[in-house]
Amino acid sequence: MLSAEQARLLKKNWKDIGASSVANPMMFVVAQFYRRLLRKKGYKRIFEGIDIETQYFKMQGALTACVEFAENLDKFADTIRRIGARHARYNMTPNMMNDVVDSLVPSLKEFSLDHGITWNEEIEEAYDEWLEQVTGYFMEGIMNAPPPPPVAAAAGPKVVEVKENGSGQPKVVATAH
Ligand code: HEM
Repeated sequence: MLSAEQARLLKKNWKDIGASSVANPMMFVVAQFYRRLLRKKGYKRIFEGIDIETQYFKMQGALTACVEFAENLDKFADTIRRIGARHARYNMTPNMMNDVVDSLVPSLKEFSLDHGITWNEEIEEAYDEWLEQVTGYFMEGIMNAPPPPPVAAAAGPKVVEVKENGSGQPKVVATAH
């Protein structure tokens, strides 16, 4: 849980970045986030075929909403869980949440330092704490997501009835497509 002061510091930094004279500053930060994330093992496969620029928009929107709720993120928890649940099909592990932190915080820091925006240990800690909460809810959503429909089974012939064949072995008596 972020203290009121941590939430203030984080929101101020987010706002300062957004107010920077660079075109689409937060998009730039998010692009750096994906550049860092995609350098790590296993991510290229997940983002294969996905329009990454559209993804920048989606991620920026989700993160900005999480910033707005920084001091009472529990009020936004169900939305974050729902977003997490939609990620269940990517076989993500809790460890990947560290990659989110390790990719996003340095991107925010780098942008701040490069553009004369205040950055210090307190701000970094506030972001760490916030992301720990965000990724915690996100992972809860993944863990509790309903299992995906059995795609492979649905594509193949369906076993309609399985009977005992008299010798202890199952025998498929009817199949349908
Ligand atoms: C390592 C962590 C993550 C990976 C690998 C990942 C990957 C992906 C992928 C592959 C998509 C689908 C894009 C598409 O189909 O066009 C997606 C969508 C999305 N992601 Fe992530 N994501 C991660 C973390 C997060 C986090 C932490 C958030 C925000 C809390 C987030 C928010 C979103 C949103 C808002 C979408 C748009 C669609 C939807 O809501 O399902 N992602 N992500």
